[in-house]
Amino acid sequence: MELSNVDPELAKVLGMEGKRQVEGLELIASENYTSEAVMEAVGSIFTNKYAEGYPGKRYYGGCINVDVVEDLARDRLLQLMGGEHANVQPHSGSVPNMAVYMSMLEPGDTLMGMRLEHGGHLTHGHPKNFSGALYNVVGYGVNPDTETIDYENVRRLALEHRPKLIVSGSTAYPRLIDFSKFREIADEVGALHMTDMAHISGLVAGGSHPSPVPHADFVTSSTHKSLRGPRGGFVICKKEWAKKIDGAMFPGIQGGPFMNVIAGKAVAFKEALQPDFKEYSRQVVTNAQMLASELIRQGMRLVSDGTDNHLMLIDLGPKGPSGKKMQSALEIAGITTNKNTVPRETRKAFVTSGIRLGTPALTTRGFGESEMRQIAVWIRRVFDSSDDRDVLRTIHAEVADMAEGFPVPGITRV
Ligand SMILES: Cc1ncc(COP(=O)(O)O)c(C=O)c1O
Repeated sequence: MELSNVDPELAKVLGMEGKRQVEGLELIASENYTSEAVMEAVGSIFTNKYAEGYPGKRYYGGCINVDVVEDLARDRLLQLMGGEHANVQPHSGSVPNMAVYMSMLEPGDTLMGMRLEHGGHLTHGHPKNFSGALYNVVGYGVNPDTETIDYENVRRLALEHRPKLIVSGSTAYPRLIDFSKFREIADEVGALHMTDMAHISGLVAGGSHPSPVPHADFVTSSTHKSLRGPRGGFVICKKEWAKKIDGAMFPGIQGGPFMNVIAGKAVAFKEALQPDFKEYSRQVVTNAQMLASELIRQGMRLVSDGTDNHLMLIDLGPKGPSGKKMQSALEIAGITTNKNTVPRETRKAFVTSGIRLGTPALTTRGFGESEMRQIAVWIRRVFDSSDDRDVLRTIHAEVADMAEGFPVPGITRV
């Protein structure tokens, strides 16, 4: 209410976003809906507090309560994921990657990560990212036939280039990752192993993807994807690296932590510790597998022919419509996705030949397998009629009709 008095212009856009979130189908694999409790914490008076430093060692007075908040977040995260030391201050998922590199590597050192067009993230060594600019990057990828990680090739590259750090984890890889194999390879060449589990941290928390924690020296993540927390990040590491990682985060990279967001993380970690989060993460995967098999039945080609996790990639092929075109046609039909590169990409990253889809957000709303079947039918219809605005608008109306039966947490009025 107060917002609409103070800033009606902003309040109006907020209302429109609420309508978009309720009426549309959110299939962006990296998005989710936090609970009302998480939003309450993020929107709380903890936003007023400066707290440079760490619990018990702050540069500011008045930190008695935020110390409790940060300790709660760190303890719950370790209870949820295991591991020896946690830092919950990263403002986003990219920052903990920077903190690990800054504390373990010198500029010019060799870093091995998955190539972007095969599913790696920008921070895993892309030339346009700080990681590609500062370090000597060796990229690995998927086997062209199976489109799954070629561990033997990772090993060969590691033996040839002797990286100081190997990154596992990805932003668009639909299969399970064998973190123990990365550990073996890292040990063979004397490298450190960092897993960026940003996409799958909710599945790891819920037991639907094997955990990297026993196999990695550092595990980094964002908190707002499958884990369903507020926007932010964290890093878990062995005790021996705790001081270096904490120092890299503050004062190395960031200033004052967002204590309101850390409060939201504490709530989200508590929610993920509840038994129903296991059920949620299982349903995310079941929904993804149903959507993938129905899309295949509708004649679409998926990278690696399916999924083991929360996401899938439709490969439109070099001669098919571009990912960019399909993303906008789907958006007109009320289905939000993102264009994505595919392993044999021939187009630019802003155009692409793929569409990435994920089920964490819809699963939070309570969507199940029968809805996934219907969504596959809509996606096929959009692809067949991508230039026909009337068809796209008709689909949008059908989509809105179904979507309104599934509440979005925190949105009570539209
Ligand atoms: C694997 C991976 N790491 C890091 C990030 C970066 O997270 P953020 O956008 O919060 O900086 C992402 C985001 O998409 C990601 O997928």
